Amino acid sequence: MTEAADDFPKPPDENTPKLDALSLRLAAANALIRRRRTIKPVDMSEKPIENLHLATILENGNWAPTHGMTEPWRFFVYTGDSRRRLGEFLQQTYDQLTPADEVRPEKREKLGAQPLLAPAVIAIGMEREPDGKIPEIEEIEAVACAVQNMHLTASAIGMAAFWSSPPIVYSDEVRDWLGLGKGGKCLGLFYLGWPKSEDWPIGARGDVADKIVFHR
Ligand SMILES: Cc1cc2nc3c(=O)[nH]c(=O)nc-3n(C[C@H](O)[C@H](O)[C@H](O)COP(=O)(O)O)c2cc1C
Repeated sequence: MTEAADDFPKPPDENTPKLDALSLRLAAANALIRRRRTIKPVDMSEKPIENLHLATILENGNWAPTHGMTEPWRFFVYTGDSRRRLGEFLQQTYDQLTPADEVRPEKREKLGAQPLLAPAVIAIGMEREPDGKIPEIEEIEAVACAVQNMHLTASAIGMAAFWSSPPIVYSDEVRDWLGLGKGGKCLGLFYLGWPKSEDWPIGARGDVADKIVFHR
């Protein structure tokens, strides 16, 4: 039998008036997870990223769960002038892979310009083990967990981050350019910087009760 989740208690939130260690840890986790936000390169300032912040973000990416301990995430970090080369390559790849009647000049323009708006761009790679014993979907899931770890860490620091996935990133051309093996894949571009605005964006989600089926 299934039933609606209406009677399920709301978990404690930041207004819960307890100050024991567990409540504080939980309040910190709640705030971090619920306040993580996408902030796009156009809303990033020119302030550079400190190496310690970048290192912490990458280190936490490395602590994602991984079935079979394959650790399939690969991070290709573009800063400085390499961002221009990344943008040029994305534009060339767009030209190569987009049928003439589907070309949208503004999309092409954005692919080249966007990497220069963020102080760091991380191309997110998924690498496969040669024996392929773990299903590809699980390796993709592990990399997505790594990206979430990085995004949460960036939000904790107060940094802006954006996971972008223009269709060309999934191509063999991008995979080969990054230097991933034949079974590997690029899963997107993770833009990192500092928000221009002091107003942290407000998020929105539908009610979790609509996404739960309880079986008792
Ligand atoms: C796998 C993945 C790919 C995404 N690709 C894009 C993208 O190409 N363009 C975009 O505008 N947002 C992209 N997003 C970000 C979502 O738009 C964003 O998470 C959503 O608007 C919710 O906002 P929030 O992250 O602030 O909660 C992507 C998110 C995920 C998980």
